[in-house]
Amino acid sequence: MGFEEMPTNNFVESSFWNFDVLFQPQQHPARDSHDTFFLKVPAYTQTLPEDYLQRVQKIHESGGYGSRGYGYDWKREEAEKNLLRTHTTAVSSRMLYALAQKPFTPKRYFSIDRVFRNEAVDRTHLAEFHQIEGLVCDKGLTLGDLIGVLNDFFSRLGMIKLRFKPAYNPYTEPSMEIFSYHEGLKKWVEVGNSGIFRPEMLLPMGLPEDVSVIAWGLSLERPTMILYGIDNIRDLFGHKVDLNLIKKNPICRLGMQ
Ligand code: PHE
Repeated sequence: MGFEEMPTNNFVESSFWNFDVLFQPQQHPARDSHDTFFLKVPAYTQTLPEDYLQRVQKIHESGGYGSRGYGYDWKREEAEKNLLRTHTTAVSSRMLYALAQKPFTPKRYFSIDRVFRNEAVDRTHLAEFHQIEGLVCDKGLTLGDLIGVLNDFFSRLGMIKLRFKPAYNPYTEPSMEIFSYHEGLKKWVEVGNSGIFRPEMLLPMGLPEDVSVIAWGLSLERPTMILYGIDNIRDLFGHKVDLNLIKKNPICRLGMQ
């Protein structure tokens, strides 16, 4: 589908790239230590791009580009806190910022890598899992393009029944959750989240006003559970995995064209 892989080899990220640049307010519950693993050593990052940091601060505090912002006192110290990234969207932020520093060229990026969330472990949740992230950055993209690219992507994995449900993310508008039909369970299962990145995220980076970015983040484990008929995530990933399952199942390989 013409996507380039993003460099995701940094599990430790600053709150700035994981949350602030994504227009996620500093009081947002996801930024609480109950949901995020913060680092003790080193607790704070030392390098953030100063000009950009000021534009991010302004968009949170008083807005700009037609937005009213959130109207609170943004704290640099909060943005400097190191954490284990909670989503690979932190890497998408870095890539889009880098893109905005050069004359504009359209891009399609993807990644598949580990993310961390401080949550209770059960049949469908682990504190570490993998995300498949994707974005398309171009002029004139619409929600129809996002639905089209997701349908194309999932149908190549054998999932042809998809449904989209309106959702909320601080960094996308509109936002959609993605559901896929699980033939075994005979029900719709949430497999991902998506949307069009907000101007409050893209314009402070310096991207041209007529550029839109459609983006999504999918769990790697959920669709795998659907495809292989596994109903407990701990049977797929982690220390409880039955090694016979790994040895006996064929590797899923996607053909190259
Ligand atoms: N970051 C979101 C998540 O972790 C996924 C997402 C990515 C949503 C990009 C919208 C756009 O669930």
